[in-house]
Amino acid sequence: MSILVAVRGWKPDHWIHALRAAAPERTVVLPGDAFDPASVRYALVWKPEPGYLRTLPKLEVIFSLGAGVDHLTSDPQLPDLPVVRIVDPDLTGRMTEWVVMNVLLHHRQHTHYAAAQAAGSWQPRRQWAAGAVRVGIMGLGELGTDAARALMALGFEVAGWSRTEKRLDGVAGFHGPDGLAPFLARTDILVSLLPLTAATENLIDRAVIDGLAKDGPLGGPVILNAGRGRSLVEADLLAALEDGRLKGASLDVFATEPLPPDSPLWRAPNLYITPHVAAESDPEALSRYVIGEIAAHEAGRPLGHLVDRDKGY
Ligand SMILES: NC(=O)c1ccc[n+]([C@@H]2O[C@H](COP(=O)([O-])OP(=O)(O)OC[C@H]3O[C@@H](n4cnc5c(N)ncnc54)[C@H](OP(=O)(O)O)[C@@H]3O)[C@@H](O)[C@H]2O)c1
Repeated sequence: MSILVAVRGWKPDHWIHALRAAAPERTVVLPGDAFDPASVRYALVWKPEPGYLRTLPKLEVIFSLGAGVDHLTSDPQLPDLPVVRIVDPDLTGRMTEWVVMNVLLHHRQHTHYAAAQAAGSWQPRRQWAAGAVRVGIMGLGELGTDAARALMALGFEVAGWSRTEKRLDGVAGFHGPDGLAPFLARTDILVSLLPLTAATENLIDRAVIDGLAKDGPLGGPVILNAGRGRSLVEADLLAALEDGRLKGASLDVFATEPLPPDSPLWRAPNLYITPHVAAESDPEALSRYVIGEIAAHEAGRPLGHLVDRDKGY
């Protein structure tokens, strides 16, 4: 029985190598190889061709090689099989680095100091304490929880917003549609780590931007998005950055990726852009995780981190 690796837009070599190192006894195949489709039991995928997984009659488990699964749930022909998503300390740690770095870039007024340095100009500004800044994390799941803890350790006032009620020590919890307005009203830096679902698509729009706190020490609210690009209405973010309703932003994910060269976002004021690299999936770390899950499944133990198809994440 084989393991199939189908990663569109990524180089497969590193994954093949890492999987063979993690499980030398298993056969690993790629979609272009000559193999019997009925030999494939497990598929490790990132943005597979829609309908492709249907062609594997003996497939048992689909592993999403990223924490997000919208690349699978958007396939109307996705077979009705267990979908396991990646939850791994390596990936979580990388996301927390991105969140902390970008919160600090805005909190420590990096755009101002980078411009001053480029001009050879000594321009100190007043710096407020972390405890004066209220960070609000949308999506208090695996990634949001870890980021919340790291930000709290730095002294920030942290709140979280989730679909269902969450209790996390030191984090002010808000949930559901009714919890959104009070959550936004106490937030200076909004961090989105939401999955893309029907409920979160275009969620961060003008109304959300205008609902953020305006009385914080940064001189205006800031938005960070490393969840999914389509959760944010980019035109609304751009307009708010240009007219000053938003003080700054950091985006790792976009409605269209790669972000087109003519996108006005490239030139928006005080906007940090990274090309969907906040938390890359590391083949070595994740291959070990997947092989462990396969071994557990074959030993009759339940699979971890199963996607709930009804919720969409
Ligand atoms: N940029 C990157 O490199 C990168 C890398 C990895 C992942 N990601 C993105 O990060 C997302 C989150 O990953 P994760 O592992 O933290 O997912 P997770 O553990 O499933 O957590 C998702 C969180 O979002 C909340 N949520 C979902 N729908 C909601 C809604 N309609 N209203 C309010 N809250 C809602 C969930 O609420 P409940 O707690 O109530 O369920 C949960 O707290 C992924 O789906 C992916 O899109 C990006």
